[in-house]
Amino acid sequence: MAINTTRLDRFISEFCKFNRKAVRLVLAQKRVYVDGVLASDIAQLVDQFSHITLDNAVLQANKTYYIMLNKPVGVVCATKDDKHKTVIDLLIGQFDQETRESLHIVGRLDLNTSGLVLLTNDSRWSERLTSPKHKVAKHYHVTLEKQLTDEYISAFAQGMYFSYEKITTQPAELEIICPFEAKVILTEGRYHQIKRMFGRFDNKVVALHRYAIGQLSLDETLSSGASRPLSASEVVNISA
Ligand code: URA
Repeated sequence: MAINTTRLDRFISEFCKFNRKAVRLVLAQKRVYVDGVLASDIAQLVDQFSHITLDNAVLQANKTYYIMLNKPVGVVCATKDDKHKTVIDLLIGQFDQETRESLHIVGRLDLNTSGLVLLTNDSRWSERLTSPKHKVAKHYHVTLEKQLTDEYISAFAQGMYFSYEKITTQPAELEIICPFEAKVILTEGRYHQIKRMFGRFDNKVVALHRYAIGQLSLDETLSSGASRPLSASEVVNISA
């Protein structure tokens, strides 16, 4: 999701139908505030979530949404799908249609993967969580068809070359919990990444569940398919 910014002078001019001179004047007269701070720079960039006032009248105050959802197997991480129920469909009854349509998914899970999915309308926040630069950890519980060995740990830590994308995966942590189960921590989200990494050992993933992203764990009180808004501290601390 791209972040759309525009210059403050353009925003005021379009919103208030002011000409350039009038825009300069209201700024020079110290009548405009952006996010509670006096604005004087006409070239200041604002986006859809900037809170903008002129003479204390609110010109823009869009609400942000941050939602945690416990995705069941068989529900697709898409906004629309002809065959399967989507994660957006699971929000019917909790959020109106306009809000649901404003949301995007922060890091998709496969159809047959369960667990923590985040949805938001705030692209700045989702960019921080998904950009490879920030290396936010995604935690998975994996159940396998065949027994694990210590060899897996070093192979995951070293990274694996994916010839289709021509990339080597970032170092990943693998902890063996018992012969057929492991915890895996990834800092990126390549297509079917975990399945492909275990595929190198010809070991099929039987079940895959994401239980945390960064500092945020899936709320254990959320039943499969249920969701809830994040608290302000969860929003801020997730990538701390
Ligand atoms: N890796 C996978 O293979 N699938 C997912 O859904 C997430 C990570």
